[in-house]
Amino acid sequence: MDRRSGRSEGCRRNWRGAALAGGMGLLAACEQGPQSALHPAGSNAEAILDLTLLLVAGGGVIFLFVMALAGYAVIARPERFPGSRAWIIGGGIVFPIVTLTALQVYEFAVARQLSDTGGVEPLRIEVTGHMWWWEVRYPGVGEGDEVLRTANRLVIPAGRPVEVVVTAADVIHSFWVPSLGGKMDMIPGHENRLILVGERPGTYRGQCAEYCGAQHALMAFDVVVEPPERFEDWLAAERRPAAEPDGPQQAAGRDAFLRAGCGACHTVRGTPANGAAGPDLTHVGGRGALAAGTLPNTPEALAGWIAGAQHIKPENRMPSFPILGGDDLHAIAVWLESLK
Ligand code: CUA
Repeated sequence: MDRRSGRSEGCRRNWRGAALAGGMGLLAACEQGPQSALHPAGSNAEAILDLTLLLVAGGGVIFLFVMALAGYAVIARPERFPGSRAWIIGGGIVFPIVTLTALQVYEFAVARQLSDTGGVEPLRIEVTGHMWWWEVRYPGVGEGDEVLRTANRLVIPAGRPVEVVVTAADVIHSFWVPSLGGKMDMIPGHENRLILVGERPGTYRGQCAEYCGAQHALMAFDVVVEPPERFEDWLAAERRPAAEPDGPQQAAGRDAFLRAGCGACHTVRGTPANGAAGPDLTHVGGRGALAAGTLPNTPEALAGWIAGAQHIKPENRMPSFPILGGDDLHAIAVWLESLK
């Protein structure tokens, strides 16, 4: 059941399915997948999809009607086209005013719904766009005044609205998770907010939606919608510092990581590494991907990333480390991957 409108889910599916099959047959093939505005997983994305379908279907009908009328005007004799003044006033003035006013009212109602949390206290998450990754903070859930920091992945509880406060560190980016909500610009020195609602647990893909430089396309992230109790478990696990190395190889990896100076840019809580320029790596092994959706999260990919970050994602802020020997590289990757 929809959180606000009360219309039954089946009814919504039916008319949406019909609209998709009819007016958007070509797009229907793209309906599935973790990053699809046509396959909403929450009420806000549903409201946006309803508005989109209405605009596409309504615009399509009007377009076909006008084209048919234009065709008729070309072949018909002028005397068979009486009352042209009525057509101009009716079709050119009255119809647009009535239609656009009705659409505007509907659009205001949708916009209001998108910023409404239905009286529920939203979970606040702060996301900062960087060239080219996502810094994610959960204020109020760290130790004391501490803020829990992570990167390139938001985990949110199913059914509870999330207030995402977005800004940027360098240039304008745009935060967009098509399956869960609208799109919001991330502007340096300015905070914008948007409400995400995830009702269907799963992993959804977000993507930067504002061109922000060479690696704009490789600026993705995951939003994991978890049932509330699993969300609390995740929060508790994320709060913990990095696990102690298990075995000599992992210990060697941690030592090599610290020796190579990685801690100047990265934080690994529980170690001396406390840099803030790059992603927090305290639980990097538990994330779905590396380098903002660029690589799979495996020790091999991670070793390749450390050795050749500039080759894989040119101009990103992480230098390549070709000087690291194979053993050090492998040990660092194995240690970081153990940090679940
Ligand atoms: Cu960040 Cu495009």
